[in-house]
Amino acid sequence: MLKHEVSKAELLRQKSILKSIYDANYGHDYRYHIESYGCQMNNHDSERIAGMLNEAGYRPADSKNDADIIIFNTCCVREHAELRVFGNVGALKALKDEKPFLIIGVCGCMMQQEQVAKKLSKRYPFVDLIFGTHELFRLPEMLESVLSGDHVFRISGSDADIAEDLPIMRNSTFSTNVNIMFGCNNFCTYCIVPYVRGRERSRSAENIVGEVKKLAAAGYLEITLLGQNVNSYNAPDSGIKFPGLLALVNDIDGVKRIRFMTSHPKDLSDELIYAMRDLDKVCHHIHLPVQSGSSRILREMNRRYTREDYLRLIDKLRANMPDIDITTDIIVGFPGETDADFEDTISLVDEVGYCAAYTFMYSQREGTIAAKIPDQIPPEIKKERLHALNAKVASKLSIASKNYINKIGEVLVEGCDQKPGGMMVYGKMNGFRTVFFPGDESLIGKMIHVKIIDTLNTSLVGQMVK
Ligand code: 5AD
Ligand code: SF4
Repeated sequence: MLKHEVSKAELLRQKSILKSIYDANYGHDYRYHIESYGCQMNNHDSERIAGMLNEAGYRPADSKNDADIIIFNTCCVREHAELRVFGNVGALKALKDEKPFLIIGVCGCMMQQEQVAKKLSKRYPFVDLIFGTHELFRLPEMLESVLSGDHVFRISGSDADIAEDLPIMRNSTFSTNVNIMFGCNNFCTYCIVPYVRGRERSRSAENIVGEVKKLAAAGYLEITLLGQNVNSYNAPDSGIKFPGLLALVNDIDGVKRIRFMTSHPKDLSDELIYAMRDLDKVCHHIHLPVQSGSSRILREMNRRYTREDYLRLIDKLRANMPDIDITTDIIVGFPGETDADFEDTISLVDEVGYCAAYTFMYSQREGTIAAKIPDQIPPEIKKERLHALNAKVASKLSIASKNYINKIGEVLVEGCDQKPGGMMVYGKMNGFRTVFFPGDESLIGKMIHVKIIDTLNTSLVGQMVK
C-alpha cells in the first residue's frame, strides 16, 4: 500500500456501513441533492459523494425542495464563493424548519479551513454534517452518525486521502475525469489550495490505468486526467512521470481522446510537448495558466517563470503543434499591480491569442502571503481591469475564429439545445473549440465529422460532413 492510500480494510468498513444504511432505507424513496462550487476537482468529488449516497439507497432529487439530504460541496479559492455558500446555506433554514428530518451537509475545501467551518457551524446550528476534503471517504460513517441524531464536524489535516475504488456516479456516460494526483506544492502567494488540499501526492500509474481501462470498457471515449499540477505527476511506486502516464493511457483500447489539466508553466517539459505531439489520442489543447503578463508580478506571485519564459513555451508548443488551442487563467489586481503591469498582461494576451481565458479579480485569502501585502488594489480598479482584459481576450478570439472557416474536424457531441433556427447539438473539436451544428439528441456521445461554416462570439457553427 502506498503512503497516502487509505487501507483496503478501512474502505471495506466504510462500504459495509453503506450497505447497512441501504438496508435501513429499503422501501423508502429517499432523495439527495448535491450543489458543487468551484473547479473540476470539486465536481469530481461530488460524483463520489453521489456514488456513496446512491449505494446507501438514495436517488437524485429533482431539486433541493424534494431532497432528504442536501450537500454543499464548497470551494475557497476566491472569497465570493464563500459569501455565496453562507447565503445559500442560510436560506435552507426555512426548509429545515418545514422538514426536521432533512439532512444538511457542507464539505469541500472551504470547510477544510477550520475557522470558516467553525463560523458556519456556529451561525447555522441546523447544519448536521461538516467535513473537510480529506474526510470524503469517511462519508458512510459520518452519515451513519447523523442518521442516529448526532451532529458531525470532522476536519483533519491528514493528507492520507487517496481512496481507491470509492463508489462513483459519473455525470456523463462518454466523457469523464480521472484524478491522477492531489494537492499542490507550489505555494503561489495568492493561493489557498496548498493549505487546504495538502501536499502533492500521486496515485499509482497501475491504479490510474486500471480505472481508465474500466471506463473504456464501459464506453467512455474521452478521459480528462485531473490534478492541480499534472506536470509534476510522479508515480510513487514505479517513478513514472506524466509523459509516461500519457503513453500508457494512450495505449488503452476504446479511449478516443485524452485531455488533462492543469499544467504549471514551470513544469512543462519538452518531453511532455513531444508526448502531446506524438501520441495520437492526446488532444491538442493545453490549459496553461499565466496569471499575469508582468515578470515583476509573476515574481511576487512566486510563479517561478518570467513573461519571456512563458512566451518561449508558447512558441515551442506551437512549433510542435501548429493547431494547438491554448487556454489560461489570469488574475487582475494582484497587490501592487500598476497600470504598466496590467498593460503587460494585455499585451501578453495580444501576443498569445488564447482560445479561452478564465479571468479573476484578485481575492485576498487569509493565511496566504499576498494577503499581507499592504498595497491592495481598490475594487473599482480591479473591475475596470477585468473588463478591459475580457474585451481583449474576446477580440483576439473572434479574429482567430475566422481561420476555422471551411476546416473539417471531429466533434464529440456533449449536448443539444433548441435554438431559433432549430435543434442544434454542440461539442468540442480535438482542441478546445466548441462547435454548434444541426442535429438531435441521438448524436450525444458520438464523434461526428463537421465542417465549420460560421463563427459566433465564443464558438463556431458547423454542418455534418457525410
Ligand atoms: N484570487 C483570484 N484568483 C485566484 N486563483 C487562485 N487563487 C486566487 C485568488 N486568491 C485563480 C488562479 C488559478 C485559478 C484556479 O483560480 O488563476 O489558476
Ligand atoms: Fe494554487 Fe499555484 Fe498550486 Fe495552482 S499551482 S493550485 S495557483 S498554488
